Amino acid sequence: MHKKLLIPGPTEVSQTILQEQTHPLIGHRSKEFQEFYVQVIAKLTEYFQLPSDCKPTVTTSSGTLWFDIVARSIVKHKALVCINGAFSERFGKTIQGCGKQADFMEVEWGRAVKPDMVAEKLETGEYDTLAVCHNESSTGVRNPIQEIGKMVRRNYPDVIYVIDAVSSMAGDKTFPAEIGCDIIFASTQKCFALPPGLAVGLVNDRALERARKIPNRGSYTDLVEIFEAEQKHQTPFTPCIPLLYALNKRMDLLLEETYEKVYERHRAMAEYTQQWANKHFAMFSEPGYESITVSCIQNTHGKSVKDLNMKLAEHGYVISNGYGKLAEKTFRIGHMGEWTLEEIKQVLAVIDEIWELA
Ligand SMILES: Cc1ncc(COP(=O)(O)O)c(C=O)c1O
Repeated sequence: MHKKLLIPGPTEVSQTILQEQTHPLIGHRSKEFQEFYVQVIAKLTEYFQLPSDCKPTVTTSSGTLWFDIVARSIVKHKALVCINGAFSERFGKTIQGCGKQADFMEVEWGRAVKPDMVAEKLETGEYDTLAVCHNESSTGVRNPIQEIGKMVRRNYPDVIYVIDAVSSMAGDKTFPAEIGCDIIFASTQKCFALPPGLAVGLVNDRALERARKIPNRGSYTDLVEIFEAEQKHQTPFTPCIPLLYALNKRMDLLLEETYEKVYERHRAMAEYTQQWANKHFAMFSEPGYESITVSCIQNTHGKSVKDLNMKLAEHGYVISNGYGKLAEKTFRIGHMGEWTLEEIKQVLAVIDEIWELA
């Protein structure tokens, strides 16, 4: 039996979307491709209400490529990376791994990164790039990227502000214009509810201007080359066209549902899950900073998450254990993509039954 995915990515993908990938292929240097790709870009521009100085692109990669893109094309002298979980840590290590300098501002896992913490570091004037993870999928913490953005834009106009929104974009609020960020990116296997294999990046002119001045940007990681190809309505290298067909369809569905309603649906699923968690267990994430796409719950009764998943499988569902060192200490329920409140209520009722939670 297929187990429906309630893990923090990949999330469940509908038959409509899976089918969309079966259209016959076209050549990626053909006029037909250009006409098709223009539509995908236009839909992303409309959905994320992009101002004229901010443009979308789609890379054939998972989201992690964007850690490398930022390292190779954006960081000039030194980056400040805010770390409060496994993915933000990987972002920082990737920048260092690419031979660039990065300082880590570490916050306890489960706690949020606050604007005053970031301001204190930026005040030193050492940093040209700031990296923040919006939605730490390992801890279920939603960092206040808009508040941080206000402070950065007011005081540090030359700092390029980069957001990892891998597990929040297309579920939570991620308008670049509201956040004041220069680059924001996500993978398609999360809130976009597509198979893995593509990443969406929204990049403004300031970031591109920076990239033009950075040497040794590589190939796949060269932001300038990516956007030169965009001007020709192409991608620099062979893209995964079946996934682009799926993204095109998904953008129609997102536009039809509307940005506000998509956000409200995710918020409602998260609130219901939080109430359930606080009744029976406790949330792991700092109060007021809970993710709306993945709930990370403290396993206060020491139940076996592994056993739960075996029993849930009989009902056709799978949730996620805690990440790395948080395994069995926490468990995570992903409510992102096309999931609905009614479905989440059903899944939690099944967990009630299995764990005999009254
Ligand atoms: C917050 C966050 N950042 C980055 C990544 C890495 O993305 P990908 O697996 O698409 O490379 C993930 C994956 O789960 C994530 O949750």
